[in-house]
Amino acid sequence: MRKHCFFTASWLTLMVVGHAMAEDRPFSSDTPQLEDGKRVYRQYCASCHGTQGEGMPNWEEQNALGELPAPPHGPEGHTWKHSDAMLYRIIAEGWRDSWNKTDRLTMPAYQEVLAPSEIRDVVNYLKTLWTQEQRRHQADESIENPFPIQTGIPPE
Ligand code: HEC
Repeated sequence: MRKHCFFTASWLTLMVVGHAMAEDRPFSSDTPQLEDGKRVYRQYCASCHGTQGEGMPNWEEQNALGELPAPPHGPEGHTWKHSDAMLYRIIAEGWRDSWNKTDRLTMPAYQEVLAPSEIRDVVNYLKTLWTQEQRRHQADESIENPFPIQTGIPPE
C-alpha cells in the first residue's frame, strides 16, 4: 500500500513538472495559451492588422498622413524577423516608423491594457501565422533575446 502511494506521488510530480516544462516552450500548437493569444489578437489587434493578420492595404508605403499603415503578420510581413524580446517591447511600449511625418505612436502601447502573460500569448499566436522556416529563424534569434523575465507576478 505504501509503495502504491509512493508511485502515485511520483507520477503526480512528473505530471506537474511536465506541464510546467511544456509552458516554457517557445512555440507549441493547441495549447490553452494559444487560444488566449488568439482571443487577445481578435479583441485588440485585428482592427488594424486584419482578422487573418493580413495588414492594411499598401502597408509598405506612407499614407496621406505620412504614416506607415499596420503591416501584415504573416509570411509576407517582417514580424517574424523580430526576436521575442523585441516583439514584446513593440507591443508593450508601442512603435512608430522613424520616417513617419507625425510623432504619435501609430502602433499603440499595450502595457497598461494587457498583462505580461497576454502579451506573450499574443506573440505566440502570431507565430502560428509564419512558415516553419521563419519560426525556426525567429526561435534562434530569441535564444539571446527572450521575453523579459517577470518578477513578482502571481502564477498564471
Ligand atoms: C491602431 C492600429 C493598431 C492596433 C490596434 C495594433 N497595431 Fe500593431 N502596428 C500598427 C502600425 C501602424 C504598425 C507599424 C508601425 C510602424 O512601423 O510605423 C504596427 C506594428 C506592429 C508590429 C511590428 C511589425 C513589424 O513588421 O515590424 C507588431 C509586432 C504589432 N504591430 C503587433 C500588434 C499586436 C500584437 C497588436 C494587438 C495587441 C497590435 N499590433 C495592435 C497599428 C496597430
